[in-house]
Amino acid sequence: MTRSPRLIHLSHEHASALKLALAVRALTPEDPSALPAVAQRIRDTFERELSAHFEEEEKHVLPRLEAAGRTELAERTRRDHERLRELADALATPTVEGVRAFAAALTAHVAFEENIVWEALEPGAGMSFDPDAI
Ligand SMILES: [Fe+2]
Ligand SMILES: [Fe+2]
Repeated sequence: MTRSPRLIHLSHEHASALKLALAVRALTPEDPSALPAVAQRIRDTFERELSAHFEEEEKHVLPRLEAAGRTELAERTRRDHERLRELADALATPTVEGVRAFAAALTAHVAFEENIVWEALEPGAGMSFDPDAI
């Protein structure tokens, strides 16, 4: 099946979200000197890219899931987005745990969308990757 331009575009944004998650995962509790900059990078990226990405999915992808009878996938997507918004907001007071929780939740969310949501909409469309392997 051909991938729709919208899913291709959202997948490109997933790739940059994964790069962010990977970069900020490098922050360790032993060396928290980079914490303020890392937390700020997450908040900036959230505002500049992720927030609009989530809105696009909520507006255009979730109705397709609901139309296909996959309301459980739409609900999990909404829950994940809310959680990620909360985790990004919480970084107004940066902590290493908060950064790592955000990175882990973002990676898991992208894997969920690429491996399960995209596949439910357009078989063969997902990147198909193991979040534990990156
Ligand atoms: Fe999403
Ligand atoms: Fe997404």
